Amino acid sequence: MARKQAWNPEHLPDLTGRSYLVTGANAGLGYFASEQLVGAGARVYMTGRSPNRLMAARAALRRRNPDAADRVETLLLDTSNLGSVRAAAATIGGRGALDGLLLNAGIVHPPKERESTADGNEVVFATNVLGHFALAGALLTSLAKATGRMVWLGSMSTSMWKYDPVDPQLVSAYTGWRAYVQSKVATAALGLEADRRLRSAGVAVSSVVAHPGYSTSGRTPGIVGVNSPTRLTRFADNLQFAITQSKEHGAWTLVRALVDPEVDGGEFWGPRLVARGEPHRGRASKITRDPEIAERLWAVCEDASGVRWPFAKAAKVAKR
Ligand SMILES: NC(=O)c1ccc[n+]([C@@H]2O[C@H](COP(=O)([O-])OP(=O)(O)OC[C@H]3O[C@@H](n4cnc5c(N)ncnc54)[C@H](OP(=O)(O)O)[C@@H]3O)[C@@H](O)[C@H]2O)c1
Repeated sequence: MARKQAWNPEHLPDLTGRSYLVTGANAGLGYFASEQLVGAGARVYMTGRSPNRLMAARAALRRRNPDAADRVETLLLDTSNLGSVRAAAATIGGRGALDGLLLNAGIVHPPKERESTADGNEVVFATNVLGHFALAGALLTSLAKATGRMVWLGSMSTSMWKYDPVDPQLVSAYTGWRAYVQSKVATAALGLEADRRLRSAGVAVSSVVAHPGYSTSGRTPGIVGVNSPTRLTRFADNLQFAITQSKEHGAWTLVRALVDPEVDGGEFWGPRLVARGEPHRGRASKITRDPEIAERLWAVCEDASGVRWPFAKAAKVAKR
């Protein structure tokens, strides 16, 4: 791809022979990121927690890109459930090298009252943070085999609400919004911390943080089985056209963060106009750049997930 040309999913680098796993791939940004990756020739493991929704998304993708049918696989992966994460990671780990991991799944409308998962973790933290921490750790050697990359989903909300996650599981003072923003502080901080640890251990895997601005379903093409907003949602979302974009467009930034050879580990990517626009290298919010907060979160995730990232083993696979 000519570097002067604007980033555009129709002119992605050729991804033939590469493989990517996307969490939360049956809808929203995860679906469109999968579609764009497959369109560039990649093999994509679309993962999700519902077999029916996954099948509908795979059918939609195959309808929209018949040439890609044999490069799309689906796999059950509920990020709120550590057993499900382990099972999916074992399946993918058995396939060999993995070029990239898009840690996208998320609860974006948290419950009003605090809820716990079967593993005993607060559900927003478990879904958005812990499951991804466990998955990335379990697939680290697969990524190292391909000198791969992981992308964590942050949010511009972390610049506006500086919630320090001293109580990441929100045992006290739970609100849905706090749970969401804290989870995004955590994913971004962990994404940056992961890159520091990978570099220091000499592991040939990079870690990048990306956010999609403000991407709404009402501004997104209607696709049966993937995105069917009501007329009211379309109307309301279109009123905000100046500060929003479609999820299809929001996915451009995530895909660029995942596949552009000029993106480096430890970087933060978002839309040029923050809420919308072309992919743009930016600066992560201050709280997510604080290494002490990140170290604390890393320890919390290790304890709550029981997962220790196999840095030494991954470093033996290939040096960074
Ligand atoms: N849209 C934005 O403006 C925006 C802004 C900043 C950050 N983000 C981040 O971008 C990511 C995707 O957001 P989106 O707007 O695409 O949301 P979305 O349309 O609601 O899609 C969320 C996806 O995550 C999946 N998911 C939820 N819980 C899951 C679980 N336990 N296990 C596996 N998958 C699960 C959903 O699957 P189901 O269909 O099964 O629920 C769905 O596929 C999130 O991490 C969000 O925080 C979005």
